[in-house]
Amino acid sequence: MTFYITTPIYYVNAEPHIGHTYTTLVADAAARFHRLAGGETFFLTGTDEHGDKVAEAAARRKMSPKEYADHISGIFRSTWPRLNVATDHFIRTTDPAHIRAVQHILNKVYEKGDIYFGEYGGLYCTGCERFYLERELIGGRCPDHQVTPVFVKEKNYFFRMSRYQDWLIDHIKNHPEFITPERYRNEALSFLSEPLEDLCISRPCSRLEWGIPLPFDDQFVTYVWFDALINYISGLGYPDSANFQKFWPAAEHIIAKDILKPHAIYWPTMLKSAGIQPYQRLHVHGYWNINESKMSKSLGNVIRPLDLSETYGVDTVRYFLLREMVFGLDATFSEEALIARRNSDLANDLGNLFSRALTMLEKYCNGVIPQPGPNEEIDDILKQRTLEASGHYGRHIKEFAFHKALAEIWEVINHANKYIVRTAPWELAKDEKDRGRLHTVLYNLTETLRVIAIQLSPFLPETAGKMRTALGYQETERPAYADSMTWGLFSPGRTLKKGAPLFPRLETTKKVVEDTAKEDPKVNKETAMIDFPDFQKVDLRVAEVISAEPVPKSEKLLKLKVLADRERTVVAGIAKFYKPEEVIGKKVIIVANLKPAMLMGVQSEGMVLAAKDASGLRVLTVDGEAEAGTRVS
Ligand code: ME8
Repeated sequence: MTFYITTPIYYVNAEPHIGHTYTTLVADAAARFHRLAGGETFFLTGTDEHGDKVAEAAARRKMSPKEYADHISGIFRSTWPRLNVATDHFIRTTDPAHIRAVQHILNKVYEKGDIYFGEYGGLYCTGCERFYLERELIGGRCPDHQVTPVFVKEKNYFFRMSRYQDWLIDHIKNHPEFITPERYRNEALSFLSEPLEDLCISRPCSRLEWGIPLPFDDQFVTYVWFDALINYISGLGYPDSANFQKFWPAAEHIIAKDILKPHAIYWPTMLKSAGIQPYQRLHVHGYWNINESKMSKSLGNVIRPLDLSETYGVDTVRYFLLREMVFGLDATFSEEALIARRNSDLANDLGNLFSRALTMLEKYCNGVIPQPGPNEEIDDILKQRTLEASGHYGRHIKEFAFHKALAEIWEVINHANKYIVRTAPWELAKDEKDRGRLHTVLYNLTETLRVIAIQLSPFLPETAGKMRTALGYQETERPAYADSMTWGLFSPGRTLKKGAPLFPRLETTKKVVEDTAKEDPKVNKETAMIDFPDFQKVDLRVAEVISAEPVPKSEKLLKLKVLADRERTVVAGIAKFYKPEEVIGKKVIIVANLKPAMLMGVQSEGMVLAAKDASGLRVLTVDGEAEAGTRVS
């Protein structure tokens, strides 16, 4: 069985964050599973480098679009291997082979009579790089970027997408798995219930030069979406490559809900016009939010995957993201939840099972797999439960229910932990007559670990590798998925090698995500009145800044040592407006009786008052001399 899996190609106007990471990890886990099951697999990711957005981002940094694209594309390319993502190809839309493929398709569609020249006036959002219809806006603004689109009127080339509307409706209706989960299939059918407009596929060079020239008119470049979608075939070497012939019939795309329309509507109709069969499946997932709010650069809550993996380890990040999100629905990221899962699921459940079993094998059997005796009922239940789980697990992965596949593995892990408690090998070890029973129990445990290591390998490749080493596999030896559905493959006498703990427990302070003091949205500061006694509860003090230094990994925070009623450490969100040396010696005002809070791993014992307007932020100081520690009232 061949399998071809793709992620979106990411825009080079921002660095990778956990949203991109999730999609890419899903694709990696799916690709690894298919390799494990013996299927020939091709996994493609890459970067989308043309268009207004990238040209603007480059201009802001005074770089040429290509220089800028090289830089950010390089960051994406080097990030994925560091998260153990094993791709077969990384495509860039600036690759000459991609450019040739786009021009080839444009010529085909043009020759078919599906491209015409016309004039269009409409509301255009640069953020989305597309025209909006009035009815699609919310309060006159783009629903994604909350900006008012500008009216643009120009002559352009159009793709006769409308010609394929009926064909597409039939195709979606006749292929229930074409777009999954179902809610997104319904959303696509609902777009198609309105008349489909033709798609503007060019931009005049007078307005935008950063794009692929139309092969039939060099005064125009290709619209970025028409260019980008073609990556899915150019990445296989279209038009003339064996890989295209082999893998395209097995194509599955993964995206988030933000780009459903180009993938569900533009792409199949483009393929149809060019005489290429549609992809097999489109898998659509939800959005990651951060502590209940949308992740965005302007909110300053974008989470970089490498910050997380350096702090918690690659497999903790992979596990958390794949376990926490129900594919298709939105999910919330919080560092506390990540730490909790690391300590309970990984350290307690998996880590303990593994180290207890191997410690007992070492202690009671000199690290050699013993000869088992006949199974009792409790052993058969463990065996059945483990083998059944492998079947369910494979089905869940094929259905893109990764959280369920992981939950299935954890049921086996928890069952095995209970099996240890119930069979109590340490009791059996006390009496020579129970030796045979002890060996049976320990044999069954190694078999369970063998199966778990196979099941974990698409998700936690590093951990699965450590488990294989401990279970006595050679470095290059890779058991297959089918081996996880057979019992008794380990021969007695095999030597084990207990290694270090898989997941040492972590202290629970968070280190990566900055806390921003949340304002209570229910309080209207304009109208809310407080009584004087309420105000009196606030202990405001003059505090002299003795030292200041940046908080590692934070762009916003400075750690201040201040002298107020006593010496205190206060973390202040002022780093974007003050260099450390500029605040030393200042007498600022602090709230001294605010409950201590951990900010990026530093305990803060107070809050510095500051005024913030559009031009920036200024801390409050006293007019003239006042001793450090003086009360402010
Ligand atoms: O749209 N939660 O690129 P892009 C989950 N270049 N996934 C998220 C996410 C979030 N908060 N934010 C981003 C583009 N993603 C085009 C694609 S494809 C031919 C062209 C992931 O950099 C998710 O996969 O804006 C989403 O669809 C994609 O990044 C958008 O990436």
